[in-house]
Parts: sequence; structure tokens; C-alpha cells
Amino acid sequence: MNPSTKKGLLVYDTIYGSTTEVAYWLKALIGEDQQLDVKRICQVLTVKLYDYVIVGSNTRNEKLTTPVYKFVEKYLDDLSQKEVAYFINCGKTDETMILKYAGKPAHLASGRNFLLDILEKFPAIKPVAIGGVGGRHAPPILNTKDSFFMWILEKMSIEGLPWEGYDIWESVIPERVETFANEIREKILSLPPRQDVEKYRGYWNSLQPASLSDQSKVKFTPKPYTEQQSTKREFYKRSRIKGNLDGAISLLKTWGKQEGLDLKEQKRTIYNIYFHAVKTYNGKELTIHAVASTLPEDPGNVHISLRSFDKPDKRKGAEEDIARAEAILWAEGRKVEGR
Ligand SMILES: Cc1cc2nc3c(=O)[nH]c(=O)nc-3n(C[C@H](O)[C@H](O)[C@H](O)COP(=O)(O)O)c2cc1C
Repeated sequence: MNPSTKKGLLVYDTIYGSTTEVAYWLKALIGEDQQLDVKRICQVLTVKLYDYVIVGSNTRNEKLTTPVYKFVEKYLDDLSQKEVAYFINCGKTDETMILKYAGKPAHLASGRNFLLDILEKFPAIKPVAIGGVGGRHAPPILNTKDSFFMWILEKMSIEGLPWEGYDIWESVIPERVETFANEIREKILSLPPRQDVEKYRGYWNSLQPASLSDQSKVKFTPKPYTEQQSTKREFYKRSRIKGNLDGAISLLKTWGKQEGLDLKEQKRTIYNIYFHAVKTYNGKELTIHAVASTLPEDPGNVHISLRSFDKPDKRKGAEEDIARAEAILWAEGRKVEGR
């Protein structure tokens, strides 16, 4: 296959190095025969020389980092004339996830959803591809400020934090890196998608242990697609069904109509939708947070989460409505079991 004549820049920010590894993994997948410069953000003097620019970042407070925002702002005129793609390294990858904590209303917080803010801030840039690939968190190497931030986060967390007790905890989903690279190949470089993707996973895998003191721990355990929780702070169910996003939206609307829930759309993207499903139970208006999302690593299926953040004694009716939503979603053999 002849290399494309297009010249690319992959510019990234990192603090602890995991975004660097993904950057070079992407370069290998896109093709060592391609002209693709990989540069840390502080090394870039101009973007004028390039036909396309891939912008990568680690996640800080549910967003790309401040230097990345500044970079995009500085080169906005040039970037808006070019093909651009964004990817983000992050801890949270479940794109149906809703987070709620003091001082911020419930919101989407994971994977590609961390890019929504920059997309809204700089609408002149219409990326050809976006990826939220996961990342690596290594509590013992954090600087003092970051350790303190993580300590606060652990105190505030409703669903618990998966890295507790780990020296290294990873969440990268290799298929997301590979899908993103193949999108660059197809949409920007007009090359066929790479099939032999697995042989490049060594760019990420390493022998470093998940825990120095407990050899039974593994760094990467994919989250179950059928997770559920019922605690005093939250009732939560997650599942997946066959089909596409439009199909899932129409099933959720059927549920809303049938059970008298007012479905208020909060966010709609090409890959997901977030509704507030509002209803009055025993004289009190409650909200069920419903998200349907496609995921790059599970083509042909849609993942759904349904959450109530109300207290157990208030949310009984909402729990019953969540069960009825699942009955509608899963009917006619749509439910996909496993994992
Ligand atoms: C202080 C701090 C804040 C973070 N904030 C988030 C966050 O809001 N959401 C998330 O999913 N991951 C968050 N992460 C996880 C990192 O983005 C993730 O570990 C990433 O892989 C680190 O990239 P790097 O190794 O390139 O610096 C945070 C990590 C630290 C240390």
C-alpha cells in the first residue's frame, strides 16, 4: 500500500506518560510509512506545515488539560482549515456513566464525553474522529497535589473508585485505540483499515505489576456490561441490547409514553443520548437518568444505563419504572448476555 502524501501532526499533553504511549501506538497503527510527526505540546511551533492534526490529552477534572485548550485557541484559525481529530486518555471509559457530586448537576463523565466541552467551545473545528480510550492511574507516583485531589475524590465518590488498593490500575480499551487509528486511515488518508491490529498492543502492555504486595491483582479488568447497584445513594442498572442508537431512542420513548415519564433530552451526540425521565411519585417529582450509547469496542449493540440518585425510601416507583424500561428494551430477544 502506498503511503498517503498527507502530512500529519499528532500533538499531545501528558503528565504521567500514558498518553505518550498511546500517541506512539497510534502512530504505529496509522503506519510507520506515513509522515506523522509526534510531538509533546510544548515542542510545537506551528501547525501550518500539516494537512491534518491529531490532538491528544490526559484528562484533568473531566476535560482535556489547560495547555490543550490554549493550544487549540492559539492555532484555531489554522486548525479550523484542517482535518482534526481528538483523543483523550482517561480513567473512566463507560460512556453511559452519569456522575453526580456536590456542586455539579448530574452529567455524562467518561470517554468521548470528556471531549464535549472542547467541541462546544471551538465549534469551528469539526473533528473527523474522536476517541476516549481509557488510561493508566498509578497512585504511588502521583505528585502531592494530585494525591490530595484523588483523596478528596475517593471521599465524594458514590459508586466507589476502581483503583483503590492498586499500585497500577488501567482502563485502556485497545479496540478504542485501534478504531480511532483506523478512522484516521480511512477518513483522512484514504487507506484501508488495518486488520493486523493486535500485534501493536505491545506499545501499551508492560510487565509492571498491578500491586507490588498482592500478585493476584491484575491491572486491567473490563467492567461488566451488566453492572447493577442498589445503595443508599443510588439505584443503577446497566445492560446492552442489539441494534443501533435510533432504535434504542425509540424504545426509550415508548417506555416514557407507556409509564407517563416526561423524557427531557440533555445531550445528543452521534454516539449517545442522555435523557432525564421525569415523573411524580407520591407527590414528589423524581428524575431517572437514562443514557443510551454505542461503544467502539462493541459494534452492533447499544449500551443503556438507568439511574436514580434518590434515597431508597423515595425511589421505589422509579425502581419499578426502571424494571419496566428494561422489559421493553430487552423484549424480542434484543438483550445481549455476557460480560
Ligand atoms: C489529578 C487527576 C485528575 C484526573 N481527573 C480525571 C477525570 O476527571 N476523569 C477521568 O476519567 N480520569 C481522570 N484522571 C485519570 C487520568 O486522566 C488518567 O490516569 C490518564 O491515563 C493519565 O494520563 P497521563 O499518564 O498521560 O498523564 C485524573 C488523574 C489525576 C492524577
